[in-house]
Amino acid sequence: MARIPSELMDDPRIAEIAREAEARIFGAEDPEELERTRVWLLGRKGTVTALIAEVGSLPEEYRPEAGRLRNLLKKTLEGWLVERKAELEEAVLRDALEGEYHDLTLPGRFVPRGREHLVSGTIREIEDIFIGLGYEVAEGPEVELEYYNFTALNTPEDHPSRSLTDTLYVAGPDGRVEDVLLRCHTSPVQVRVMESRKPPLFIISPGKAYRRDVPDASHTPMFHQVEGFAVDRDITFADLKGTLESFCRAMFGEERRVRFRPHFFPFTEPSAEVDVSCIICGGEGCRLCKNTGWLEILGCGMIDPNVFGYVGYDPEEFSGFAFGMGVERIAMLKYRIPDIRMMFENDLRFLRQF
Ligand code: PHE
Repeated sequence: MARIPSELMDDPRIAEIAREAEARIFGAEDPEELERTRVWLLGRKGTVTALIAEVGSLPEEYRPEAGRLRNLLKKTLEGWLVERKAELEEAVLRDALEGEYHDLTLPGRFVPRGREHLVSGTIREIEDIFIGLGYEVAEGPEVELEYYNFTALNTPEDHPSRSLTDTLYVAGPDGRVEDVLLRCHTSPVQVRVMESRKPPLFIISPGKAYRRDVPDASHTPMFHQVEGFAVDRDITFADLKGTLESFCRAMFGEERRVRFRPHFFPFTEPSAEVDVSCIICGGEGCRLCKNTGWLEILGCGMIDPNVFGYVGYDPEEFSGFAFGMGVERIAMLKYRIPDIRMMFENDLRFLRQF
């Protein structure tokens, strides 16, 4: 090959070393391999180093020529090593630069962003309205004692809501039904808060509730409620009406009319159900309101003196009101959702709309 000076080809040993060195130097794939080749040729015990050391033992008359050729070999190899080293270093640099190449014109990668669930959003809206009225938020357990869910809420022993067909009880280790259940409303939080604090209390309490219902367009075994209650001196039914009227208007629009219908709950007396004028027909009568012009949205009443008895409040000194609403029902009315189950199917095409 043209790289080897022709003079070196005249000595077979030198020619042999030159050929092998050329193949190994220019065949080296990386700087490390090249360095091993350099050591093999020119290191302290290198092949060429030994060849040069040999000169001293040659007959005097051969020494100058032998020395000249061996030095030429050494210089040639040194030149090759420098040349190949530069090539390899450049390749390493090129690889690194190519690996780091950024195409700034590429579009960014889409990161899907989560959003608040319709149910959480509705709870937050309800909370915000009551927080604006000076209420504070409290929470209670979903796995509850029968005492808080029923007894202390003045619910008679034989009340149908206590039955195994209505309420989900938690079985003990022996399979026997215990006095532990999944709360069927958020009202037990009233008892828990009153038991541990003294009036004045203005509390709002969102959370899950469970009932033994077969799912259909308006029922799921788990749903959400927001409970609210106020206890202080001189709280009257007028306070309840004013509070819920301003809530209904903030939630469903200032033009809504609100009506209170007599009802019964064991833990309030008197009790009422609250309707708002239909958000679709405004009271004319349509399919949503089943031609009544009204939509039922919550239950409420003045806290029964018997409940105060369970928490140790004097009903002569304090009075209060309470109310409870279904979050999904409110969202369904507000956003005209035809089936409650859509809220729990996690279909993003549905959830993204809110
Ligand atoms: N707990 C009742 C229910 O689930 C609602 C309610 C709450 C009624 C507070 C009156 C007072 O239907």
